[in-house]
Amino acid sequence: MSTTFRVNGVQQTVDVDPSKPLLWVIREQLALTGTKFGCGIAQCGACTVQIDGQATRSCVTPISAVEGREVTTIEGLASASGELHPVQQAWIDHQVPQCGYCQSGQLMSASALLASNPNPTDAEIDQAMQGNICRCGMYGRIRNAIKATSVASSDDKLFYNVASVEKTAEVDHG
Ligand code: FES
Ligand code: FES
Repeated sequence: MSTTFRVNGVQQTVDVDPSKPLLWVIREQLALTGTKFGCGIAQCGACTVQIDGQATRSCVTPISAVEGREVTTIEGLASASGELHPVQQAWIDHQVPQCGYCQSGQLMSASALLASNPNPTDAEIDQAMQGNICRCGMYGRIRNAIKATSVASSDDKLFYNVASVEKTAEVDHG
């Protein structure tokens, strides 16, 4: 049975079992391997993508559930011209990635949070990110990088505050 949906702005039609998890369609049919498998039971967040802007565990989402919907993966987070999403730049400057395995899922949850709440509190960050496990324990840096990305006062665009790196270095418990 075929399913038609959009991935990173491009329409795709795949002919697979409708119960096949979106994670494996993304990786196997579409060769987008930035989305990772961790647990397969919605417990770790490594497989997080966005469906219509909502952070979603692709390991437990059957492909049939995305018919007609818009899926964004880590490969689609930067702009088409290659400009990084502000939170990606914050991630680099705050040296969040260690082994890297959890990182695409973390970034998809973080960018979904910032799209709906551009100035989250620590509690709101912890709530939104609690399903994304990092075995390297980078939670402090993740929180600092998210807080460094906010809305500039002059317009509605997300903005990354470079000055936050120095501040992070002083209080880094990540
Ligand atoms: S692989 Fe999907 S939540 Fe762990
Ligand atoms: S950076 Fe290693 S698991 Fe998160």
